[in-house]
Amino acid sequence: MREMLEKIRNQALDSIRDAKQSDDLEAIRVKYLGKKGELTQILRGMGKLSPEERPVMGQLANKVRGDIESELSSKVREIEEMALAKRLREESIDVTLPGKRPSLGGLHPLTTVLNLITDVFLGMGFNVAEGPEVELDYYNFEALNIPRNHPARDTQDTFYINQNILLRTHTSPTQIRVMEKQSPPIKIIVPGRVYRSDAVDATHSPIFHQIEGLVVDENITMGDLKGVLDVFAKRMFGEKTRTRFRPHHFPFTEPSAEMDVSCVTCEGTGCRICSNTGWIEILGAGMVHPKVLEYGKIDPNRYSGFAFGMGLDRIANQIYGIDDIRLLYENDIRFLSQF
Ligand code: DAH
Repeated sequence: MREMLEKIRNQALDSIRDAKQSDDLEAIRVKYLGKKGELTQILRGMGKLSPEERPVMGQLANKVRGDIESELSSKVREIEEMALAKRLREESIDVTLPGKRPSLGGLHPLTTVLNLITDVFLGMGFNVAEGPEVELDYYNFEALNIPRNHPARDTQDTFYINQNILLRTHTSPTQIRVMEKQSPPIKIIVPGRVYRSDAVDATHSPIFHQIEGLVVDENITMGDLKGVLDVFAKRMFGEKTRTRFRPHHFPFTEPSAEMDVSCVTCEGTGCRICSNTGWIEILGAGMVHPKVLEYGKIDPNRYSGFAFGMGLDRIANQIYGIDDIRLLYENDIRFLSQF
C-alpha cells in the first residue's frame, strides 16, 4: 500500500507540473482527490489493514493528500499569474504613441471675407449694425424712395409673407432703421443675408449676402464717398488697386455711381476673369437722397451722407477665384476644406 500511495503521489505531482491551464488542474484534482478519485479508492481499502499498519498508512495517505493539494494550489497561482502577465503584456498601452487629433472645422470663405471687410471699415471708424431679414415693405422699398409700381421693384422680386411683409432684397432698409434711432454722425456697415426670387445658376442664388454702408454727418460730400471706397478697395485687393466710378441710378441715392476695381487677376490689362475690360464691378453707391434722409427723420438741409452696397458672395468669389456661387451653399466638405 505504501508503494501505491507513493506512486499516486508521484504521478499526481508530475501531471500537476505538466498542467498548462486551470481546467487541467481541476481534472487532476478530480482524478486523485475526488469522491471516486484514486486516493479515495485506496483509503477505502484501509479497513483490510492490520491495526498497527492502519495509523501509519493513514498518516502517509494524509501526507500524500496534503502534498497533492499544496502542489495543486501553488500551480493554480502560477497559472493565474502567467495569465495576468500575458494580459498585461497584450493590453499594455504605448502612451508615447501620437494621439488621434480631432479634425477642427474652419471658417466658411464667406465668413473669412466678411471678417476682412469688417476689419477694414472698423479701422476707418465704422460700427456694425444689423437689421431683420423678414422686413416690412415700407423699409425695403417705400422709405428708400421706391414706391409701389416703381420699375426698380421688378429687378428685386422677392418672397412675400403678405402684402406688407417680405424677405428683404437688400441690406439698404437697415439704413432707415438706423437713421430713425440714431442722430448723426452715423458711420455704419450692415452685413447680412438677403433674398430674391431668382432661379439658381452659376451667378444667381435666391439667398445671398450684402454689406451696406452709410455715413451721415454735416458736410459729407462725394469726395468722402470716393476716398473711403478707394481706401477700402486698396486694403481689400492690394495697394496697387485702382478704382473708377461710373454714373448709375439708384432711387435712394442722387447722384449714384457704380464702383469698379482694376482686375485683381490681370491688374487691369484684360483677362478672362474681367471679360477683357480690365475692370470688375464691385459695388453701388451714391449720395443719400434727401427724401431718404427725411424718411430717416434726418434734416436734409443740415446733413448729407453717402451710402454703398456690395455683394459679399461676388467679392469672395473674386478673391478665391470661385466661378460658381452654388459652391458657397452646397456645404460640400471637399470644397470647404480648401479654405
Ligand atoms: N441696394 C442696392 C442693391 O441691392 C445696392 C446699393 C446701391 C446700396 C447703392 C446702396 C447704394 O446703399 O447707395 O442693388
